[in-house]
Order: sequence, then structure tokens, then C-alpha cells
Amino acid sequence: MTTSKSSNKKIVAAIVAMTDDRVVGKDGDIPWHLPEDQKRFAKLTKGNTVLMGRKTYESIPDKYRPLKQRKNVLVTRNSNWKSEEDVEVMVCSPVRAVEKLLSRENLPGDTIWVIGGEEIWRSTLPRLDMVYLTKVHLKAEGDCFMPAFEDDFKEIFREEHEEFTYINYKRGA
Ligand SMILES: NC(=O)c1ccc[n+]([C@@H]2O[C@H](COP(=O)([O-])OP(=O)(O)OC[C@H]3O[C@@H](n4cnc5c(N)ncnc54)[C@H](OP(=O)(O)O)[C@@H]3O)[C@@H](O)[C@H]2O)c1
Repeated sequence: MTTSKSSNKKIVAAIVAMTDDRVVGKDGDIPWHLPEDQKRFAKLTKGNTVLMGRKTYESIPDKYRPLKQRKNVLVTRNSNWKSEEDVEVMVCSPVRAVEKLLSRENLPGDTIWVIGGEEIWRSTLPRLDMVYLTKVHLKAEGDCFMPAFEDDFKEIFREEHEEFTYINYKRGA
């Protein structure tokens, strides 16, 4: 008989769109628009928890935030930060936020999705089980970049499209 404890185990996965030069953002926004990728992002993350930095949260247009049908969690150093209803604000490091979420019994879904941005991925890298990458084949100037992670992960899925490639990675050599 399996215990409820083992079935509560969550996967911690980053979901990232980056250019071939690792750009993920510029001036608080994402410098491309790929509706197909946005649909995939919604499909994968719905029903689960999404963890993000305060800057990424603020980059989401008002009408789309909090992200629907997901538990939204935001990290900030500002204990006075006021958020919309239905957003949990954690005043702690991103990696600590992951630990706190993993210790809970009642999170929705099977995955904690770490949805950005650069600071949050950098902090949580050692805790990630998976990375769902969209490699966008364009040149873009950026001020935020995806830190290197590939050496500690192995590729388990690849799907080529004209403008981008989906690559999923799992921790392990
Ligand atoms: N291409 C993609 O897939 C993708 C996805 C998401 C975001 N983005 C882009 O990434 C950019 C934003 O990334 P970013 O790195 O600038 O910001 P971010 O990671 O979204 O948020 C950074 C904020 O998180 C909080 N934070 C970070 N470390 C913390 C710690 N140790 N303790 C407590 N709070 C902490 C701080 O909030 P306070 O300043 O409030 O203290 C910090 O300013 C934007 O351009 C966005 O469009 C791209």
C-alpha cells in the first residue's frame, strides 16, 4: 500500500523561454511574442502552483494576473508589498519558498512551476528536478538571462518547430 506522503511528492520544474543567446527578458518584458508557446505554458501550469519573482509578477498584464486556475506565489524582500487577492506573498529567498511549498500537504497538482525571472531561476537552480525550455531562434537584446544549468541535466524530450524548439531536461547526467 502506498502512503499518502509519497503521493504528495511534488516535482519542481522551471519553465523558461530563452533565445539561443540565453536572453529571457528586456526592460521588464519578454522581447518576443509566441502565442503557441504561451498556450503551452498555460496548459502545462494550470492546476498547479506557479512561483515567481516580484518583477515577473508585475510584468504580467493586469487582466491576466493572478494567473488563472493556478496557485500564484510571489517572492519579495519587501514585507509591505501589497498584492492582489489570491496571491501568496513570501518574504524569503526563492529557494526557501520552494522548500516551504514542498513541505505543504495541500498544494494543487503535481508540480511546482518556477516561472521566472532570472533571479528566481538562479536561486532555485539547485532544487530543480526538471527544466522545460523553449529555445527561441531569434536574436534579441536582453538584460535578463537564463543561467547555465545543462551540465547537471539530461535532455529527455525535443520537439523542433520553425521558430523555436521545445527541450525538456531532467536532473542527472
Ligand atoms: N522568457 C521567459 O520565460 C520569462 C519568464 C519570466 C520572466 N521573464 C522576464 O524576466 C525579467 C524579470 O526577471 P528578474 O530577474 O529581473 O526579476 P524576477 O526574478 O522576476 O524578480 C526579482 C525580484 O524577486 C525578489 N527576490 C529575488 N531574490 C530574492 C530573495 N533572495 N529574497 C526575497 N525576494 C527576492 C525581489 O523582489 P523585490 O524587489 O520586491 O524585493 C527581486 O527584485 C523580465 O524581463 C521578465 O519579462 C522572462
